[in-house]
Amino acid sequence: MNQKNPNAQSRRNFVKTSSLLTGGLLAAPFLSSANYFSGADDVIKIALIGCGGRGTGAAVQALSTKQNVRLVAMADAFKDRLEDSLKNINEALEGKKDRVQVKEENKFTGFDAYKKAIAQADVVILTTPPGFRPIHFEEAVNQNKQIFMEKPVATDPNGIQRVLKAAEIAKAKKLNVVVGLQRRYQNSYRELIKRVHDGAIGDIVSAQAWWNNDGVWVHPRQPGWTEMEYQMRNWYYFVWLCGDHITEQHIHNLDVINWFKGSYPVKAQGMGGRQVRKGKENGEIFDHHYVEFQYADGSILNSQCRHIPGTMSKVDEYFVGTKGKIFCNAGKITDVQGNSIYQYAFNPKGEPNPYQVEHDELFAAIAKGEYKFADAENGAKSTMTSILGRMATYSGQIVEWDKAINSGIDLHPKTYDWAAATPVVPNADGYYPVAVPGVTKYV
Ligand SMILES: NC(=O)c1ccc[n+]([C@@H]2O[C@H](COP(=O)([O-])OP(=O)(O)OC[C@H]3O[C@@H](n4cnc5c(N)ncnc54)[C@H](O)[C@@H]3O)[C@@H](O)[C@H]2O)c1
Repeated sequence: MNQKNPNAQSRRNFVKTSSLLTGGLLAAPFLSSANYFSGADDVIKIALIGCGGRGTGAAVQALSTKQNVRLVAMADAFKDRLEDSLKNINEALEGKKDRVQVKEENKFTGFDAYKKAIAQADVVILTTPPGFRPIHFEEAVNQNKQIFMEKPVATDPNGIQRVLKAAEIAKAKKLNVVVGLQRRYQNSYRELIKRVHDGAIGDIVSAQAWWNNDGVWVHPRQPGWTEMEYQMRNWYYFVWLCGDHITEQHIHNLDVINWFKGSYPVKAQGMGGRQVRKGKENGEIFDHHYVEFQYADGSILNSQCRHIPGTMSKVDEYFVGTKGKIFCNAGKITDVQGNSIYQYAFNPKGEPNPYQVEHDELFAAIAKGEYKFADAENGAKSTMTSILGRMATYSGQIVEWDKAINSGIDLHPKTYDWAAATPVVPNADGYYPVAVPGVTKYV
């Protein structure tokens, strides 16, 4: 028993209790196979699934927490990505390299790698492209793991439903789940939301959200790659893997609006297209979307996201309430006339890094045997908000939340294999089909 907090359980008991909570699992083999109990009691073992830029960063953050953490397994579709990541993690952890203990036999590659890596750990970091998140999250929950997973958590309504179901199971098992919507772990936003709850701006009647910047990398096709390998390497440009940039990046801002509103939109309509992102290497996604989301109380969120070099850059959120306004980046609240009500005191020496805070808080809870984080349901619904927006801009129609989330739309391939058929294929000139508003049905 923890003397300071009689409600806290030891990590060993916590993991055990979490696992036993779901009756059907009592006889399941995970207790002997999940390696929870094979090391010293306070060692927390981590597996990284998806060893790219964010996965590498998240692993370093997890390994920089105060707890007795070890990276024991890694999984990636590609061997080269895994090895680069391991090298970068080691370099970043100068002085704490003993925390990286990934044996050769615990490096897994290919489409099934995730299952084997997940089995080695207490905590898993899920940072592949979002198309795979539902499958990986389900597996992590089935294997009774504590979870950090990046946003977005899916790319299509079917994936959202799978995450919502697994989120319920995770809750029943008391598995902590943190989703990388890091504004929720950022002090300035936490202070603003407190004031929203205290009524500082009254009822929110409208909001604006922006993710406008130059865009991201391209990985050009290389000789010898199958179509599947090409799409996996250049994943940003394929909707089944990425969701389009409205899902992949703008979700951050849409999530802030949902969080402050305390609800999710009921419908959306909008417009979008591609003006500069027109090459073969740009697959099928748009370079701009403008969406009007409507909430049940009639309030409107105007959302814009653009990936066009040389245009105005802005990533921010703004609210108008019956009594005041919120300027999120500035950490500022005013009354309706513009007089200051509140200004967050940014530390001139730098604010705590919210990416680090996510891991500090998650690992502290795990070490204390506390169940504190259930981010998956919200992560799924904010991801769905972005998918709703995409359905509206691709189709040019009004799209209702209930119809969209229950549409059963599944953009994924039937099988995952380097030679398998991809959900979209290029035409004879190498170009992919792009949505045409007014013609394209919900996608
Ligand atoms: N919270 C944030 O601010 C933030 C920032 C950056 C990225 N992200 C998110 O992190 C995720 C990854 O983005 P990234 O920038 O690291 O991309 P990345 O391409 O650098 O890394 C993705 C890695 O996953 C691997 N992968 C792909 N499919 C796989 C599979 N089925 N099994 C195992 N590995 C697989 C890829 O080979 C690659 O190494 C995305 O969801 C992205 O939105 C979040």
